[in-house]
Amino acid sequence: MNNIDILISEEAIQNRVKELGEQITEDYKGSDLVIITVLKGGFVFTADLVRRIDLPLTIDLMAASSYGAGTESCGEVRILKDINIDIKGKDVLIAEDILDTGNTLSMLKKLFEDRGAKSVKICVALDKPERRTANVEADYIGFVVPNKFLIGYGLDYDEKYRNLPFVGVVNC
Ligand code: IMP
Ligand code: MG
Repeated sequence: MNNIDILISEEAIQNRVKELGEQITEDYKGSDLVIITVLKGGFVFTADLVRRIDLPLTIDLMAASSYGAGTESCGEVRILKDINIDIKGKDVLIAEDILDTGNTLSMLKKLFEDRGAKSVKICVALDKPERRTANVEADYIGFVVPNKFLIGYGLDYDEKYRNLPFVGVVNC
């Protein structure tokens, strides 16, 4: 695809991720932190973020798929792969590529709270507030983005472009 405009440069992302990592390091000092990433999109951001957090944390992976608005199963989220560790009494931080409608993250937050986590917070690389339908907000946000279809830095278009080091907008 050659009609991609860069919305957030690699340098801007890396600078912001460093700031987020420093903030999280400060906020979670002395706590039993578990970072849970949401596959597939969250893996790029999480890999960068955890290397900027100077704490003895634990990492686990979750895979979920949400049905888009307008479908019969709107709001339903399926767990495709669960975490392996016990999060009871732990401070959970969910790391995700983007907070969009919020269906996925509101479901995961409730799930981890029900499993007895001491706290559950959300860290997203991108926040698209105009699209929100679920009652959920992120505690740490890299960038607030406009309501456009984005690719790169974990985000895909038909499973491609997740590996772009920047966030781009597709111009059709
Ligand atoms: P939701 O918040 O439950 O609606 O779902 C969020 C998921 O939708 C993200 O984890 C992404 O995988 C996907 N998503 C949302 N916005 C975009 C976009 O602009 N480009 C690519 N994927 C997106
Ligand atoms: Mg996705």
